[in-house]
Amino acid sequence: MKTKRMGRRAFIRAGVGGAAALAMLQTGPKRAYSASPSKPALLGGEKIFKGTFPGWPRTDARHEQVWLEVLRAHGWCRLNGDYVKRFEDEYARTMGSRHCLAVANGTSALYASLNALGVGPGDEVIVPPYTFVATINVVLLQYALPVFVDTDTNTFQIDAAKIEAAMTDRTRAIIPVHIGGYVADMDTILDISKRREVPVIEDACQAHFAEWRGKRVGSLGETGCFSFQVTKNISGGEGGAMLTNREDLMERAFVFHTNGRPWHLTSGFSYVQNGANLRMTEFQGALLLEQLTRVEAESQIREQNAEYLTRRLEAIPGIHPARPYEGTTRNAYHLYMFRYDAEAFGGLPRERFRQALSAEGIPNSPGYTPLNKMPFLKETLYSRGYLNVYGKDTIDEYFDRIDCPENDRLCTEAVWFTQNMLLGPRSDMESIADAIERIHANAKDLMA
Ligand SMILES: Cc1ncc(COP(=O)(O)O)c(C=O)c1O
Repeated sequence: MKTKRMGRRAFIRAGVGGAAALAMLQTGPKRAYSASPSKPALLGGEKIFKGTFPGWPRTDARHEQVWLEVLRAHGWCRLNGDYVKRFEDEYARTMGSRHCLAVANGTSALYASLNALGVGPGDEVIVPPYTFVATINVVLLQYALPVFVDTDTNTFQIDAAKIEAAMTDRTRAIIPVHIGGYVADMDTILDISKRREVPVIEDACQAHFAEWRGKRVGSLGETGCFSFQVTKNISGGEGGAMLTNREDLMERAFVFHTNGRPWHLTSGFSYVQNGANLRMTEFQGALLLEQLTRVEAESQIREQNAEYLTRRLEAIPGIHPARPYEGTTRNAYHLYMFRYDAEAFGGLPRERFRQALSAEGIPNSPGYTPLNKMPFLKETLYSRGYLNVYGKDTIDEYFDRIDCPENDRLCTEAVWFTQNMLLGPRSDMESIADAIERIHANAKDLMA
């Protein structure tokens, strides 16, 4: 699957306004990369960014008002209030999905999905190694095996071309993660799912409002899972949602999320299956309903800033911004991710580069470490419960199947910025790019 540079139409659709958009398209980035010899802040120079990036989460008077409403009405739980239900209806409508189940967090949305699809002991689930640990933990909660498929380092997403080779007759689900709010290669993944009759659970926990060929992600698989944890582009402190177009999955997930009580919460103490309490509170539902009203505007600002930043960073040798696949019609930019090639910076190690960037006033993160190599995975899979289900030989063989060398390399090269850094004025992006240019120009001195 091809990756893309942003085309003229997408660029304008992304909201870069009229004359400015045309000027940029005609002339390219306002400022071509010209190495600035000015002294890096880490070596005593004046730091480039002296301001502050926008804070997160954001609140306004309306949030206080709805919280007080819930507080005073005493309907704090979905069993005796209607905010959660209203949020579910609105989120399903906004995302283009038939059903939405609101839950306590994104982990619960994934957990409920696996349960609804009947994934359990003895099953295998395809997962990426470049993700937050919750994607894997839910598979382990089911005593299933997370089978890691290597990462496409150009896009930071699961390498869809490698999925089929990792599947066996025990594969019961594929969990692509739209990491950073960029979109996994859904054409290839959905094609595999259809041909092999293995359902897709989209982990869209970082990808609110991202789109694949004009459809919102999370509405493409059998289920789609979202997180509203405090750092996310829609935040309720904690919170999550599962989308599905299938009534049967909605029903099973609903029953599971409320301790196995019958569909639509009929009263009394009868239970139709096992379950857990994964319910969202009315406080979360009310806050999220309000937060939803601002996502579109914020998403547009992130897109405009990220696209400008990419044009600047692509001009710097050794900086490789994550590229969207050609089918991506909208990127959520929960993170801004790029690969740092130390060789192009005269061998300046990533940690020193990051330190220099921080000194310029630009916070940054090295991102994930390889999940498939986490010591806890061995501890879990060689535990009594797992050995009872699989036996030692199967677990030994499993560990021979999950090497992801491309991902290992990516984890040594990645650098991230968080979504809130993309919400300020264009000048913030200029500072980020100026800082990286300065570090590149002074890499030799920074090595010392
Ligand atoms: C990719 C991914 N999956 C799952 C989760 C789990 O979401 P939550 O923290 O809301 O349980 C997260 C949250 O950070 C995530 O980033």
